[in-house]
Amino acid sequence: MARIGFLGVGTISEAMVRAMAGREGHDDQIFLSPRSQERSSRLADEFPSCLRCESNQAVIDASEIVVLGMRPQQLDEALEGLVFRDDQVIASLIAGTPPSGIAPLVAPAHRVCQLIPLPAIALRRGPLVISPPIPEVVAALAGLGEIVTLDDESLIRTLSCASAFMSTYYEMQNALIAWIVEQGIDEETASRYVRAELDGLAAVGLATRDAERLALPMEHQTKGGLNERVRAQLLASGWFGTLIDAIDSTYRGARLR
Ligand SMILES: NC(=O)c1ccc[n+]([C@@H]2O[C@H](COP(=O)([O-])OP(=O)(O)OC[C@H]3O[C@@H](n4cnc5c(N)ncnc54)[C@H](OP(=O)(O)O)[C@@H]3O)[C@@H](O)[C@H]2O)c1
Repeated sequence: MARIGFLGVGTISEAMVRAMAGREGHDDQIFLSPRSQERSSRLADEFPSCLRCESNQAVIDASEIVVLGMRPQQLDEALEGLVFRDDQVIASLIAGTPPSGIAPLVAPAHRVCQLIPLPAIALRRGPLVISPPIPEVVAALAGLGEIVTLDDESLIRTLSCASAFMSTYYEMQNALIAWIVEQGIDEETASRYVRAELDGLAAVGLATRDAERLALPMEHQTKGGLNERVRAQLLASGWFGTLIDAIDSTYRGARLR
C-alpha cells in the first residue's frame, strides 16, 4: 500500500488519480491538496481511497510519495514555506524542469523523479515516462500504461517533444472524417469508421514484435493498391519530413529551467 499525495489537482492529476483509484490489486491511499475545490472534492466523494486534505502541508505530512501537479509558473509560489522530509520521494509532473531543477525546491527530500503521463493515462493506456526510475514510484504507478524509464534526465526533453504529436494526430483524424462526410456519408458513420480504424492500427502497432515494426508500412499496402498510392504521394511531397522538422524545431527551441 502506497501513500501518495498530489499537490495540485488539475487536469492531469485527476486523470492519474482516477486511473490509480480504480485499479485492481492496489490498496493506495491518495491525499489531495484542497485547491480546485470542486475537482478535489468530487474525487474524494467518488473514491474511498482519496482524502482531500485541509492544506498542502497536510498532503506532504501524510505522504511517502508527493506528486507535484501544478503548472510550471505556479511552482515557486506553491512550494514556498512547505516543509518536506528527507525520506520522501518527489514525483514531478512539471514540464520543462528536470529533477535536478526540482531538488533544491523540495530539500531535504532528495529523491526526485519526473513523470510524463499523457491524457490516455485516464484509460490506463499510453506511455508513462518515469525518470529516473525510482523503484517506489515505478511500483506505485504499475498498471497505469506502458511505463518507460529513463536514467538520464537530459533525455526527458526528447520524449516530451515526441509526444507533441497528439493534437496533430487528432487533426489528422478529423480531416479524414471530414473528407468522408464530404463524399456523402453521414458524420456518425464516418467518425465511427475512422476512430475504429485508428484504434485497430494502434493495437497492431503495439502488439507487433519490435523486430517487425519497420515492415508494418509495407505489410499494410499492396502493390499498386490504394495504400501504396497514398503513401507514395505523401513521401514524394515531403509530408513525413515536414512532421519531423516540426518536432525537431520544437525540440531545439524547448528551454529547460
Ligand atoms: N495536461 C497534460 O496532459 C499534462 C501532461 C504531462 C504533464 N503535465 C504537467 O502537469 C502540470 C499540470 O498540468 P495540468 O494540465 O493538469 O494543469 P491544470 O489543470 O491547470 O492544474 C494545475 C493545478 O494546480 C493547482 N494549483 C495551483 N497553484 C497551487 C498551489 N499553490 N497549491 C496547490 N495547488 C495549486 C491548480 O488549482 P486552481 O485550479 O485552484 O488554480 C490546479 O488544480 C503542468 O506542470 C504540466 O506541465 C500536463
